[in-house]
Amino acid sequence: MSDNKIEEIQELDQSRVLQSWSRQKNKRNNIIIKSQGVKFTDQKGREYYDMSSQLVYANLGHKHPKMLEAFNQLSGLEIVATGFASSSKSELAEKIIDVAPSNMKKVYFTMAGAEANEHAIKIARMVTGKHKILSRYRSYHGSTFGAGNLSGESRRFQVEPGLPGFIKFKTPYLYREKLTFSDELDYTNYLLSELDKQIQFEGPEDIAAIFIEPIPGSNGVLLPPEGYLTGLSTLCKRYDILLICDEVMSGFGRTGKWFAVDHFNVQPDIITFAKGVTAGYLPLGGVIVSDRIAEYFDENVLMTGSTYSGHAMACHMGCAALNVYHQEEIISHVQEMESVINSRLEKLKEYKYVGDVRNIGLFSAIELVKDKQTKEPIIDYGQDYGKDLQGHMSTLLACLLDKGFYTYSHESCIFISPPLTITKEEIDSAFDLLELGLTQFILDHPSLT
Ligand SMILES: Cc1ncc(COP(=O)(O)O)c(C=O)c1O
Repeated sequence: MSDNKIEEIQELDQSRVLQSWSRQKNKRNNIIIKSQGVKFTDQKGREYYDMSSQLVYANLGHKHPKMLEAFNQLSGLEIVATGFASSSKSELAEKIIDVAPSNMKKVYFTMAGAEANEHAIKIARMVTGKHKILSRYRSYHGSTFGAGNLSGESRRFQVEPGLPGFIKFKTPYLYREKLTFSDELDYTNYLLSELDKQIQFEGPEDIAAIFIEPIPGSNGVLLPPEGYLTGLSTLCKRYDILLICDEVMSGFGRTGKWFAVDHFNVQPDIITFAKGVTAGYLPLGGVIVSDRIAEYFDENVLMTGSTYSGHAMACHMGCAALNVYHQEEIISHVQEMESVINSRLEKLKEYKYVGDVRNIGLFSAIELVKDKQTKEPIIDYGQDYGKDLQGHMSTLLACLLDKGFYTYSHESCIFISPPLTITKEEIDSAFDLLELGLTQFILDHPSLT
């Protein structure tokens, strides 16, 4: 691409495109001019490891040959309204149900994750006839109005004053828990008994659903303590409250299972998904509902819909992606890579400012602190979009980028969620770069104020 063309694209991107979650002034975005597998190259010819799979969706890496082949087949497809059946829509729904927990029966397709959560809220209210929705602090469910109201972090504030009946409870976060517990089970029992009290206070007869990310992603890969999810599921059953799991980020192999809930032997009533279902090759999301919910709509009208629900081309790319997941045994590959990434993460704990590391499958967070003893965070709780626009965290990301390691951060965590196809050698090379970048940052910043 010529220098003039690059200049023109960047200029128009800056002058004509509103950029998400950003102050617009002086925001000059790089351009990816080439990509393959786990790497991409920018307009300056610099190569990077894509250690966040873009926004945690490029699960099969860049330019996967099978996905490119599927692109070539798109011209043979019909453009059809939702009232028509299409082979890609039917086939994809079947493929998803095949890998979902065994109580799951049907899929409602959307364009993306937030939209999936919007429909899930409506479905829960229709099926139960109740209106309150409980979700958690330190969660992100999307930026639209309903999904924004579910979210328990600072990206919610722009939809406030919010919807009545959207109530928050605490997310387990052992690293930052101030109370002391004898073990994880003790912590779980405490959290669930507090939640039980909250449910009784709000009135189980009014609560339609409890909505969680089984493993909150962009709020820090917060792994639940032992027994927590099973206990939560039991509470939901006791009070006849639907359990809805947002697996937009954690679904489709990211954690080393098809869905994160599979680690905990939990069968939710509804699962929402997006990102990994097409590995990002076209936008697609959806809501998977249990047999009980599917049956409810046999006789009751499903009062929701959208023009592009089950778009044949997006579903075609979903089918292609699921074929690759199966053919390349992606789930067992992620399980194998887990120990590789764990040992590299463990080593990072020796570095100044690395407070904690957490990982499951290929879903990791590195939590930075100003001081390891006090655990003072680099960015205060909820201040990601504050005045200094991330300060030290942006500097750290720039140091990593400078060494060829691309990822993103939220509050005081940087995230590592590479394409699920990454090899052991690629993980090691990328972590070598990460350590170089971190060392540079520490040298440049002997203390953080
Ligand atoms: C857990 C979770 N839910 C929902 C969303 C929103 O998805 P989308 O951006 O596709 O609307 C995200 C996006 O990152 C997410 O991580």
